[in-house]
Amino acid sequence: MARFKFGLFGTGRGIALAQDFLSLGCELVAMCDFHEARLNKAVNWLKTDAKCYDNFDEFIEHDMDIVILANFFHEHAPYAIKCLEKGIHVYSECISNGTMAEGVALMEAAEKSNAVYMLAENYPQMNFNMEMQKVIKSGNLGRIVYAEGEYNHPMHYEDLNMRRLYNYFPDHWRSWCPTSYYVTHSIGPLMRATGASPKKVSAFAAFADPVYRESDGIQVTDSAAIITTYNDDKSVFKVTGCAGYGAHGSFYRFCGTKGQIENLRSAPGTVMTRYNSWEKPEGSPVKLLYEASYDDPDIAKISKSGHGGSDYITARIFLESIEKGEQPPFPYNVDAAIAMSSVAILGHRSILEGGKSFEIPNFREEKWKEIYRNDTLSPIPGSDGTRPSIPCSSVPNSGPNEEQCKKFFDEIKDMPVV
Ligand SMILES: NC(=O)c1ccc[n+]([C@@H]2O[C@H](COP(=O)([O-])OP(=O)(O)OC[C@H]3O[C@@H](n4cnc5c(N)ncnc54)[C@H](O)[C@@H]3O)[C@@H](O)[C@H]2O)c1
Repeated sequence: MARFKFGLFGTGRGIALAQDFLSLGCELVAMCDFHEARLNKAVNWLKTDAKCYDNFDEFIEHDMDIVILANFFHEHAPYAIKCLEKGIHVYSECISNGTMAEGVALMEAAEKSNAVYMLAENYPQMNFNMEMQKVIKSGNLGRIVYAEGEYNHPMHYEDLNMRRLYNYFPDHWRSWCPTSYYVTHSIGPLMRATGASPKKVSAFAAFADPVYRESDGIQVTDSAAIITTYNDDKSVFKVTGCAGYGAHGSFYRFCGTKGQIENLRSAPGTVMTRYNSWEKPEGSPVKLLYEASYDDPDIAKISKSGHGGSDYITARIFLESIEKGEQPPFPYNVDAAIAMSSVAILGHRSILEGGKSFEIPNFREEKWKEIYRNDTLSPIPGSDGTRPSIPCSSVPNSGPNEEQCKKFFDEIKDMPVV
């Protein structure tokens, strides 16, 4: 008998997520995507006879314990709420909510539901991040007072093969997603390792003048959001959101009162600890470099899973939480998920308002719910045709014009998007 019956909503990234749930002993019973070619691809890849839907409200009526939300980046919350209302456990891709109002609604739905809600943030489960968590937990570095998270994912603007998959229609979220919004991969590992949660945010954008390249249909012209958070344990984080400058990689650094640990920019799987000579642990050198590796009984399955195996471990955390009858650990629970989304959304507002500091709301409190209940501002077009209500870049209207966009989308129009 299957461990759990699950449904998949969104069949791009969703295919890889489904593979992990299958290897964790779950059964895929239903899939939903309104893009027929993508849905067909999922059927073939997953070799499944799961029932296929093109409409979420029909899909959600299918008998299942879990729904994986892998639909458009900024539209997870309304569907998470429908699942929670039906008592279906939710595994939501990042971010949890695309607007502050959705954050309020998501919290209210979670408060009323017995179902488990988990943000599927996988980067903390990369082997080097897990190694850094272990060292920090040992206490050898002292109290962590400052940490940095950098997630940098540039893409070649002429790589049409990638672009046709990544921003395949003019209003696709990847063209409009401000750099601060894709924040969970830079801040998630810091929150996981330290247990600290952001209380205030302010940010500036690093603007990349778009004239240096031909249009690729991308409206966002900032290459990074440099976000600072002040946290509930009085520590400070500096994170990038999703940066797009040269060159690719994910890097983290934790500074404690006695020493520091980071993964190397030249070799991300290698971690380096450095201590004050007068405070180093007994028998340890002042500086130590070593390769991080998983010490895990599921290593065979982990090594076949995406993002260095972190996808599998993240899904396993979720299933174990359901089995224990608990909400997932910090920072995958709904409170931390909404806090990360608030860093994304209010970080962008800070950029638009010259670096102004915003408090991160606690939606467990009525006061904060009332402040943000009707705040639907969004820089990303909705799939229902809603237009952006605020600019997506620090320099408004600096993206490609209509003619440039048309040229790009004409180029990819006959290419398959799966
Ligand atoms: N954690 C990671 O490492 C990681 C990696 C890649 C993507 N992601 C996240 O996964 C999510 C999906 O990413 P993607 O690259 O597959 O995005 P995508 O936009 O390419 O795919 C989303 C899919 O959802 C479908 N969809 C959207 N709304 C729908 C609706 N109302 N009804 C039916 N189908 C609908 C679309 O047709 C599409 O096939 C995003 O949130 C993204 O941020 C996370």
